[in-house]
Amino acid sequence: MQTLEIIKNVHWVGALNATLRVFDVVFQTRFGSTYNSYLILADKPTLIDCVHEKFAQEHLEKLRSLINLNDICYIVVNHAEMDHTGALDMLLKEAPNAQILATRTAALFLKNILHRDVQGRMVEDGETISLGNKQLRFIHAPYWHWPDTMFTYLAEDRVLFPCDGFATHFCDERLFDDRVDDFTEDFRYYFEHVMGPYRKKILEAIEKIKDMDIRLIAPSHGPILRTDPWKYIHAYKDWSTARKDPYKKLILVFYASMYGNTRKMAEAVAKGATTVNTEVKLFDATTVSPESMRCEIESADGILMGSSTINGDALKPLWDILNVMFSVNVKLKKCATFGAYGWSGEATRLLEERLRGLKLTIVQPPIKALLTPTAEDLKKCSIFGYDFAASLTASPAR
Ligand SMILES: Cc1cc2nc3c(=O)[nH]c(=O)nc-3n(C[C@H](O)[C@H](O)[C@H](O)COP(=O)(O)O)c2cc1C
Repeated sequence: MQTLEIIKNVHWVGALNATLRVFDVVFQTRFGSTYNSYLILADKPTLIDCVHEKFAQEHLEKLRSLINLNDICYIVVNHAEMDHTGALDMLLKEAPNAQILATRTAALFLKNILHRDVQGRMVEDGETISLGNKQLRFIHAPYWHWPDTMFTYLAEDRVLFPCDGFATHFCDERLFDDRVDDFTEDFRYYFEHVMGPYRKKILEAIEKIKDMDIRLIAPSHGPILRTDPWKYIHAYKDWSTARKDPYKKLILVFYASMYGNTRKMAEAVAKGATTVNTEVKLFDATTVSPESMRCEIESADGILMGSSTINGDALKPLWDILNVMFSVNVKLKKCATFGAYGWSGEATRLLEERLRGLKLTIVQPPIKALLTPTAEDLKKCSIFGYDFAASLTASPAR
């Protein structure tokens, strides 16, 4: 595919990768992805974002079809991740007059990516620069999804370039949201997996752009959003806003159980944890999809995990839930573990170790029951749940 003029004098010069099936090792890209890069043909020609190293040559050719590379004045690096900067080294050699514009953090990251000094300068939050007949404004948006990120706004044309914000791993050369196939599910997937851990930061940056006049969003991956850009911004806002009862602490109890022993413990724990100040949700980890638990985990104040021991380990469904937690903001949430066992009982300790590794705070030692829990064991489980709830309600709501 060649270049595409997305609005007058703004050209898409990115790359398509239709066969990509996984991104950053862990994110699924079932319909491939695109690396979007945009050339603004203003008095001072400016490139917004670059592409993956693999597409460096193709990117140069696209640029050359539109401009003499010596004429590029600025290259805006909204975010330094290598899928947008991999081709930068080669481009800078061919475009010797280009100055890099980036946040302080992105400039620092670039130094450690390129390992050489480059021309350019840092831009402040809210700063504008003139391209002659057009103006660019920079809006810092840290943790969308790296600490270095900013958005760039092309004022005259009312175009927002938010880099990975509002992006989708979805390759369709028709490019515009009104022309490509339905990408709703993939847009949500990208949000949950890439932006999900930073919901607070999402809301902070949306607050900064909420009064801006935006007619088109040109992200760094996937479709260009022109039909109703605010629909996508509102979706991000909606997905980032906690939906739990603000007056109650939310506790999630996940368990897996082969013969119902840990299940009985989980039910007693959940019962004990249910107080006037808490809302408790009990999940059999063998029947829920871990992915569907993302929002619940994000909203929770406390997480209890129960597993019996199997071959010296915890049951896999619990590991699957923990696996999702790595891309959710769980830092400092409170947690504890429980489970039935036969002789060695490693499961609770192993779960604790992983929870600690994910930076949750373990508030009390595990509770274990030998083989089949007795009435006395279940009573202890109930107290265990109550104590856990008490540890949460002693601290202010998150
Ligand atoms: C296949 C299998 C492997 C087990 N391995 C262990 C083990 O390594 N250590 C241990 O303490 N108990 C082990 N147990 C015992 C269970 O943890 C115990 O029966 C427990 O009560 C099961 O609780 P549940 O019904 O909640 O799964 C094993 C049980 C099974 C069926």
